[in-house]
Amino acid sequence: MSIDPKNCLFTLEVDRRFPKPLPGQFVQVASSTELTLRRPFSVAGASRPGEIELLVELRGKGTRSFAETHEGATVSILGPMGNTFSEPSTGEIAVLVAGGIGVAGLRYLAQELSEEGRRLIILVGARTREALLLGNLLPSATEDGRIRLEFSTDDGSAGHWGTVCELLDSELEALEADRIASPRLYCCGPPAMIREAAAIASAREIPCEVLLEEIMACGTGACRGCVVMTKHGYRTVCSDGPVFDAAELVFEEAPNA
Ligand SMILES: Cc1cc2nc3c(=O)[nH]c(=O)nc-3n(C[C@H](O)[C@H](O)[C@H](O)COP(=O)(O)OP(=O)(O)OC[C@H]3O[C@@H](n4cnc5c(N)ncnc54)[C@H](O)[C@@H]3O)c2cc1C
Ligand code: FES
Repeated sequence: MSIDPKNCLFTLEVDRRFPKPLPGQFVQVASSTELTLRRPFSVAGASRPGEIELLVELRGKGTRSFAETHEGATVSILGPMGNTFSEPSTGEIAVLVAGGIGVAGLRYLAQELSEEGRRLIILVGARTREALLLGNLLPSATEDGRIRLEFSTDDGSAGHWGTVCELLDSELEALEADRIASPRLYCCGPPAMIREAAAIASAREIPCEVLLEEIMACGTGACRGCVVMTKHGYRTVCSDGPVFDAAELVFEEAPNA
């Protein structure tokens, strides 16, 4: 299903032997017969038995030919792969921070936490109103404030004017003043956003997990093409991740630092 000219939501019927995925896990899709390498996509929903959802931004050949797959076609997928997020403990409030297509990596987590009755703040950022991935993709805000949904745009065309990390900082400030619940952060988005969110979490001594979307090749830990630097040496995103404790990652210097 096309959401807008740049993004599609796919519902895939899966074999009954396909294990129920955990939030954060991904599948490797053979998106085109012309491409050797499969393309990784986070499981963006698995609420109905026998189905998984993928939310895909159209970038290059693999994603574009996947979007052209006609309804009812058979697509080969491998998975579910990778690790999952930690559960928030009682007394913690889950703060989900998504930048752009990062919504795909956190959508299933948001659904699961919402169904478990958890307290949830979802922050979504994009460059412009048109690029904001909201619609009915995420759990709705509740009147009792258990689930809150806030958004930001870099150009101020919708929601808060600024980056999603600026929004995150002000939400954390408010939570700190409230002293009702301690936040636990879950982030997915472009590298600069991940780096900034991790720095905010570190400065405020808040637990933070990030889902990384490095470019992959084999997807099985063999080629080492998706390594990231951690405090314990290089780790592969495909087999050690894609979810990492932000405090364990070693980030490259920001370009303008
Ligand atoms: C664990 C994981 C989960 C992912 N989940 C999702 C998801 O849920 N939804 C989604 O839309 N995408 C997701 N991605 C990214 C997705 O895999 C790529 O966008 C896709 O493989 C691009 O394939 P393509 O053939 O269309 O583009 P290509 O022709 O391979 O590349 C087109 C352009 O996109 C760039 N590009 C390719 N891969 C990435 C990437 N991973 N990050 C940034 N730029 C990239 C290339 O450098 C190139 O400029 C995920 C990646 C990983 C590793
Ligand atoms: S993609 Fe080959 S090791 Fe991760």
